[in-house]
Amino acid sequence: MDSLLSMEEEESSPWSPALSFCFWFGFAFFVIKSCICRRKKPHQEAKTNMASSTIRAVEKILSYRFKDKSLLEEALTHSSCYNNNNNGESFRSYQRLEFVGDTVLGLALSKYLYMEYPSLDPGQLSPLHKANISNEKLARVAVRHHLDSYIRHNIRDFPLKVQKFADAVNQEDDMVLYGSVKAPKILADIVESLAAAIYVDLDFDLQKLWVIFMDLLKPIVTPEVLQQQPHPVTTLYDQCQKQGREVDIKNTSIGAKNIASVYVDGAFFASDSSDDMDTARRNAAEQALLKLSKSMPTDIGRLDFSFGLNKSFEIEEAKQKLHEVCQKKRWDSPRYSIEKEEGPSNDKKYVCSVRIATVNGDLFMVGEEKSRVKKAENSAASCLIRALLDSDII
Ligand SMILES: *[C@@H]1O[C@H](CO)[C@@H](O)[C@H](O)[C@H]1NC(C)=O
Ligand SMILES: *[C@@H]1O[C@H](CO)[C@@H](O)[C@H](O)[C@H]1NC(C)=O
Ligand SMILES: *[C@@H]1O[C@H](CO)[C@@H](O)[C@H](O)[C@H]1NC(C)=O
Repeated sequence: MDSLLSMEEEESSPWSPALSFCFWFGFAFFVIKSCICRRKKPHQEAKTNMASSTIRAVEKILSYRFKDKSLLEEALTHSSCYNNNNNGESFRSYQRLEFVGDTVLGLALSKYLYMEYPSLDPGQLSPLHKANISNEKLARVAVRHHLDSYIRHNIRDFPLKVQKFADAVNQEDDMVLYGSVKAPKILADIVESLAAAIYVDLDFDLQKLWVIFMDLLKPIVTPEVLQQQPHPVTTLYDQCQKQGREVDIKNTSIGAKNIASVYVDGAFFASDSSDDMDTARRNAAEQALLKLSKSMPTDIGRLDFSFGLNKSFEIEEAKQKLHEVCQKKRWDSPRYSIEKEEGPSNDKKYVCSVRIATVNGDLFMVGEEKSRVKKAENSAASCLIRALLDSDII
């Protein structure tokens, strides 16, 4: 309730607090209703019982003045907010508008992307579309513009959830696509229902709606941003593939807690928990990526040299050959490390890695599992030579 209360404190008229305080209606409703209805213009079907200062504040945020204020009121009313006055009337909740808003924003955005990016193909347009009007994105829009405090609802823990989300959003960069806290769905719903309310109020003019609403959605996600921020789970899988490592993310739930655990080459690597499995997976993947980036050279991604490498095809005396390559190139000598050592003493298995510092950054490669350290090192060297050949570095 904090958000509603804090909003009401700003009101100046003595009527206002009761007006938009949806569960106070038992007593105040008749007085308020009669005074509003008398002022109501004949063409307006629905009465508005939202404080006029609230309406003005939201109109200011939207940079749009509603001809029919009841549309705005409907857009801000959650289904939990019922009207317990004596004649059993209930408020209209935003659900119908939200349904329209979802479609309308999608259509307006499709049109915009189609016009703005003539060279993008559907495969590129689709993620842009998703990123721009995802629930996450729209919830961020709601929080940035403080729309959450104008929602009429009767949900006990809503303000707390919004606060948690808002705190996370406030620490983010403007262009963050995937946050660490799950976005409360109502926030995105409200943005959609407001879009629909404007659309209906504009007599269903899509172009005008987009002109008004685009400002609210800014910053709009661009193809460049999207490319810089692939989903952490996708990035993790890509990175591991490049490094020849196997990755798996397992879901488990304990009560309401969802836990995602990342396993790399069969060994536990990182985990995170959240109310929501997608968030847990995203956070766990981010931790795993951080860990990978600390143990691996940062240039590994850019060189992209182990993709699709067949490690079984091994170059003989690769260690010696790699040493010669380094001398010729005036690189430091390769450094080998044991990455994995497993099994009983009479049947040990080793995986080794090799690292070379070059002027373009470190090169790093993990070899195949072998029964001897020497063989495992040779395998790593072999893989690295082939990668260097493949990427025309030697
Ligand atoms: C989505 O991405 C593109 C790229 O600019 C961006 O131009 C577009 O505006 C975005 N859409 C939305 C709704 O933000
Ligand atoms: C794990 O959770 C994600 C996100 O909810 C889901 O898409 C995926 O299918 C789940 N995987 C398994 C194996 O249950
Ligand atoms: C990799 O190379 C080995 C040896 O040349 C060959 O037997 C194997 O089929 C190859 N594997 C793949 C996946 O190409």
